[in-house]
Parts: sequence; C-alpha cells; structure tokens
Amino acid sequence: MRAGVFGIGSALPEHIVTNAHLASYLDTSDAWIVRRTGIRERRHLNGTHTLTDLAVAACLDALADAHCKPSDVDHVIVSTITPEQVMPGMAPEIASRIGASGAGAVDMNAACAGFVYALDQAAALVESDRAGCVLVCGAEALSTITDPDDRATAILFGDGAAAVVVRGGDLERGCSPFVLGSDGVHAASLNVGGAKQVLRMEGQEVYRHAVERMVQATTEALRRASMTVDEVDLLVVHQANERIIDAAALRLGMPAEKVVKNVDEVANTSSASIPLALHKAEREGLLVPGATVALAAFGGGFVWGAGILSWKERVHATA
Ligand code: ACO
Repeated sequence: MRAGVFGIGSALPEHIVTNAHLASYLDTSDAWIVRRTGIRERRHLNGTHTLTDLAVAACLDALADAHCKPSDVDHVIVSTITPEQVMPGMAPEIASRIGASGAGAVDMNAACAGFVYALDQAAALVESDRAGCVLVCGAEALSTITDPDDRATAILFGDGAAAVVVRGGDLERGCSPFVLGSDGVHAASLNVGGAKQVLRMEGQEVYRHAVERMVQATTEALRRASMTVDEVDLLVVHQANERIIDAAALRLGMPAEKVVKNVDEVANTSSASIPLALHKAEREGLLVPGATVALAAFGGGFVWGAGILSWKERVHATA
C-alpha cells in the first residue's frame, strides 16, 4: 500500500492588491516588480475573513474533491508561519470546524518548504498505517508579517490556503520518498524577528541558495524514484519569484510548458504556494489523474525539500 493524493482544495481572499496600488505609496513601479519577480498582483486578507476561515474552506473543498467525509479524517497537519496566535495552533480549530473533531491536529513550521515537509509526514503516517486519511493544509497570511513600508519585501508576499487529502491505495507510485534538508547557519538571511516582528531577507543570498537547493533536491528525488526528468509531466516549484522558478527549471532541463506558475496572480504565499499552484494547474487541465509531478520548495532556515508523486493515481482510496 502506498500513500497518494486523492483530493485538493483552495481558498483565496477576495481582496486583490495590484502592483499599481503598491506603487501609489512605495518607491517602486509595476514595471520593476514584474521584471524582477513576475508578480502582478497578490491577495490580502482585509478583515472580511480570517486565515482560519480560508483554511477551513480549502480543507472542505479538498475533502469533497476526494469524496471523503470529515469523519474519515484521522489527522490534520496545518503548515503555517503565520498562525493567528502562538497557542493553540490552527489545526485543532480547523479540525473541529470541518467536522473532524477528535482527529490528531498539529501545526508545522518549515517556512516556505512546509507543504513538502507536511506532505512527506502525511505519506509516512499513511504508509506506516498510523493514519488512514490525513488532511495537509498550507495556510498563510504573509501580509501580517510583511513591513508595508519596506519596498524590498512588501511587493513579494500574499495570503491564501490550500489543502490536499492523503490516503492509501494500491498505487504504483503514489508519493515517492521525499528529499528534505536544512542548513541553520543561514537563519539570519531570511527570518521574522526584531521589535516589529516582520520579515527580513537578504534577497540575492536567498535567491542563490533557493535555486541551488531546489535543483539538488529534485535531482536526488528523481534518482530515488529511479526516474529521469523526461518522465516528469509537470514541475511545481515554490512560487517565490518567477526568476527563481525559471532558473531552477532551466537547470533541471524542464521545458517551459511543463512548469506551473501562478506567482503572477498570488505572489509568494509560503507553504500555501505549492498546493495553490497544483490546484490552478488542475483547474486549467494541465494536471490530470496519473500525471507525474515533481515538487520542490525552499524557505527560511534554510530548509528545502523535493518529491515526486503521481497525481490522483486512483479516484478512490482502497485502504
Ligand atoms: N522597487 C524598486 N526598486 C527596488 C525594489 C522595489 N520594490 N526593491 C528593491 N529595489 C532596489 C534596491 O534598493 C536596489 O537599489 P540600489 O541598486 O540603488 O541599491 C535595486 O533595486 C536592486 O536590488 P536587489 O535586491 O539587488 O534586486 P534583485 O534583482 O536581487 O531583486 C528580489 C530583489 C526580487 C527580492 C530578488 O533578490 C529575489 O527575488 N530574491 C529571492 C528572494 C525571495 O524570493 N524571497 C521570498 C521569500 S524566500 C522564499 O520564499 C524562498
């Protein structure tokens, strides 16, 4: 029995923040932002909904897509660096609100690599028979930790939530073993701290390491899955910056038509980024059942991860 993804859902705030809006009060321009990042707009929570509301909507959407009932869920993992409070975590309330009361529920922080870490843990829980159905949700409100007056970071981030349902089945590939890594000596290059508790980043340093680590990890994930890059149907890289995505794809030898991007519409949504991109790819018909997908992510720590999975290899779980 192998673990695989059986459903996906997502939710975005309604409020759109355009580059033109940012340029109306920051010393920046739409042209600079598009050229250096590929970002055209992002969504921000503006008081109408909470981050937990978004996460609940994404989880319910994913459960419906997987034809699962809330009572099927054994475990909820919420990946976030922007929980609404330090304690309790977001996962218990989300589990409760979706009707999975009693399920295991835990928050995880692996920064922008959080979804890949959480998906790997969900697969391990299912394959070791410790859980039958795990909901993995990336939920982020980066607008709450961004300094609106810092043009170098205020332009980069957005809010959103997306979730997948992980179950077991008689699958040929499912989620192949993921490659995860970290290097804590770089903590100062990307962190949230100081008196204002806002995100600070050495952009060029992060850029260099992000490309290098995601390429290395994806190459190793392919080796562990005994696959070549030509056998991958879609590459979904953490949507931090279009230049990072393009550089990683080029180094891996992935043609542009196999590279998923939504950074132009949602900007960097940290651990919600990969599942939001997966959902968009599926809605647009790029991602179909049985497709082989390579995921790669990198974030503050530094932490990184990559994995190969077959998308919705079966419609229904068998275990
Ligand atoms: N508008 C106009 N000018 C700007 C802006 C802005 N929004 N931000 C910075 N600048 C200026 C700088 O002040 C600098 O001016 P100077 O030459 O007079 O000193 C100039 O533009 C160049 O700045 P750089 O930081 O060198 O610009 P760079 O080409 O590196 O682009 C960026 C900056 C987009 C942040 C890039 O380094 C990057 O994408 N880094 C990756 C980091 C990332 O994506 N982090 C997201 C979080 S981490 C993660 O998710 C993995």
